Amino acid sequence: MDRNLALEFVRITEAAALASARLMGRGDEKAADQAAVDAMRRAFDNVNIDGTVVIGEGERDEAPMLYIGERVGRRGPDAPVIDIALDPLEGTTICAKGGVGAISVIAVAESGKFLHAPDTYMDKIACGPDARGVIDLEAPAAENIRRVAKALNKNVEDVTVVILDRPRHADLIQEVRKAGARIRLIGDGDVSAGIAPCWPESGIDLLLGIGGAPEGVITAAALKCLGGDFQGRLKFRSPEEKARAEKMGVKDCERVFTRDELANGSVMFCATGVTDGPLLQGVRTLPGNRAHTHSIVMRSATGTVRRIEAEHNFTTKPGHLGTQMRS
Ligand code: FBP
Repeated sequence: MDRNLALEFVRITEAAALASARLMGRGDEKAADQAAVDAMRRAFDNVNIDGTVVIGEGERDEAPMLYIGERVGRRGPDAPVIDIALDPLEGTTICAKGGVGAISVIAVAESGKFLHAPDTYMDKIACGPDARGVIDLEAPAAENIRRVAKALNKNVEDVTVVILDRPRHADLIQEVRKAGARIRLIGDGDVSAGIAPCWPESGIDLLLGIGGAPEGVITAAALKCLGGDFQGRLKFRSPEEKARAEKMGVKDCERVFTRDELANGSVMFCATGVTDGPLLQGVRTLPGNRAHTHSIVMRSATGTVRRIEAEHNFTTKPGHLGTQMRS
């Protein structure tokens, strides 16, 4: 994975974050998502890669842009052939409400190294580097909490578990409460929540529960770069979803996938904050037709984590973004 590409990918997530953040709090999830998709799709044209979207906006018939299988990038001579898992706006509702933790995200791997996860659910467990190797999706929540507490040298009562606030998690929430751990319920955004245990200052030690399968693969890529751990098992809502997974090449639908089975080989992860969250600061609009972005880019090969702050001046940087900021 060429390290020089890292900065190119930051430009892409920055473009999507800037475009969607402009619609923060407007209550229009679709418009915010569309703005992110359009900006990300355009930004890909400037990068000399031969990329295939393996996790994207959906199947070709349901997503006109950044659909699964779409080729992106300039594809010039010597363009690296890569697979891309992306979410131009992870947390559409968060952005529409101006809530916590919406990000624009891209993960990149060599061809064939991501699990081609269909648009279904995934049961997930994620932790930071200090608890790597102790988690087990098949063990009860209480047992995982106990093991993580031990690995972090904490009391169980001081372990904080992040869970999506959904009716399907009623039993899980009861189980975690019974175990004695703390819970942070979130409305959306289990990618940034799943990565958060890698930063002790996030106040989150463990992610548990069911969220989107594509988001699971993206989270696994980030955790691989950060030395954290992840396991996931696909959860289908219908036989059609299962059939789709099999068609996409998933051989064992009951399998618990490890972090490296979801994101194999050398991977790169890049995200820009749309709204403030545990991982990144959101887009700030500045006086004088300018904006500030906060991004993170990391590579599993080296483990280097770069946080990039950028100030964008839409007066001197002409183009679609400038037009959008002014309109
Ligand atoms: P979107 O950005 O597609 O709205 O996804 C937000 C999200 O909260 C993800 O972070 C999470 O994995 C998934 O939705 C959970 O799905 P559901 O809302 O159906 O429970």
